[in-house]
Amino acid sequence: MRIGIHDLSLATSGYVLDLADLAAATGVDPDKYRIGLGQDEMSVPGPDEDIVTMGAAAALPILQRHGRDGIRTLLFATESGIDQSKSAAVFAHTLLGLPSTCRAVELKQACYGATAALQSAMGLVARNPGERVLVIASDIARYEVDTAAEPTQGAGAVAFLVTADPALLEIEPAVGLFTADVDDFWRPNDSATAVVDGKLSIDAYLDGFTATWDDFRAHGGADVTEIDRFCHHQPFTKMAVKAQRRLAEHTGTELAPERHATSTVYNRRLGNSYTASLYAALAALLDHEDDLAGKRIGLFSYGSGSVSEFFTAIVGDAYRDHRRGAQARAALDDRVPVSVSRYRELHAAARRDSAIDVEIVPETRTPFHFTGIRHRARQYRA
Ligand code: HMG
Repeated sequence: MRIGIHDLSLATSGYVLDLADLAAATGVDPDKYRIGLGQDEMSVPGPDEDIVTMGAAAALPILQRHGRDGIRTLLFATESGIDQSKSAAVFAHTLLGLPSTCRAVELKQACYGATAALQSAMGLVARNPGERVLVIASDIARYEVDTAAEPTQGAGAVAFLVTADPALLEIEPAVGLFTADVDDFWRPNDSATAVVDGKLSIDAYLDGFTATWDDFRAHGGADVTEIDRFCHHQPFTKMAVKAQRRLAEHTGTELAPERHATSTVYNRRLGNSYTASLYAALAALLDHEDDLAGKRIGLFSYGSGSVSEFFTAIVGDAYRDHRRGAQARAALDDRVPVSVSRYRELHAAARRDSAIDVEIVPETRTPFHFTGIRHRARQYRA
């Protein structure tokens, strides 16, 4: 049975910061960000936005196109959790008007969570091919200001529908897996920003990539010459270049930039969207290349801490009729530019005390809003 991704939709925040402005404000050569990191912009959430509003905004067009029938599971992958107990999936379930006869659960393992959700969804559909599983990956990357990691922040969400007989991508069974306990990046429960050892995290990512590649090959995965395009988790898009370089060395194969370049188009503008990043890379690839039908894509998922997975997918014959390039470009183009000082105000305001009731007036042009905290509970409205 063919199982995989039937529809895929991207959303992001209402505001954007041009990294040239951040470079000017911090006295850094803008080429360090543009060329050195491969980043042009980063999405900045407004006070009325969070992972729930972005995730629901990504999922809504999928439900408008395919309806809600047969969706009995909503999996919400994130590492920007808004509560220690109640899942972001339950809030999104209400905003999206999903049936009550549905399970709604949150998954976490840094940027790897969405791939765990995808593989779980594949298992559910294999058990019951009539089911459709909605997966939402949504994250906000926040580091301390005035650090080397500051220009690698960002925000975004990707939603996808996992079904039998999918229109976009059939996920192949061979996977490569790797888990290693590394203190490269984490976010303690009392912190709104991540703790990171940047250089260690790059090494851990690359080591995870080669380890999953070897495991993938040992489990019957395709040869490097049989993989037409690559999509990687992209904390910054230069990381995909580093990964391709490492794979070329590891396999002794030449890998032309065309094998991964279009997958970086959206992430250059989103910044790091953590667990949504790999799937934003996939959306960019499908939206920008017209000759992918029947081609094999290799996908590398990395979540610090760390868990890695490499897997492949075959693009559907009619994928061009099912993609959403115009919607993704509009989500990026419609963001309102903010100054560095406004971005830093928003960054500071993200640290919220749940014991203080607050009402937040909607200000971004998104379909769903976080409207504040009442009696310690988060409030949302469409
Ligand atoms: P840095 O100190 O800015 O690094 O930190 P750098 O000084 O090495 O510069 C970066 C690149 O810019 C280098 O290129 C420089 O040569 C180049 P490279 O050698 O890497 O090819 N450069 C210039 N290029 C052109 N013109 C110039 C110029 N100046 C310098 N004038 C670092 C960079 C990424 C470490 C930092 O931003 C950071 O800590 N970011 C956060 C951590 C991160 O993104 N890690 C990535 C792997 S871990 C991961 O992906 C998981 C994650 O998403 C979390 C999760 O799983 O949940 C983070």
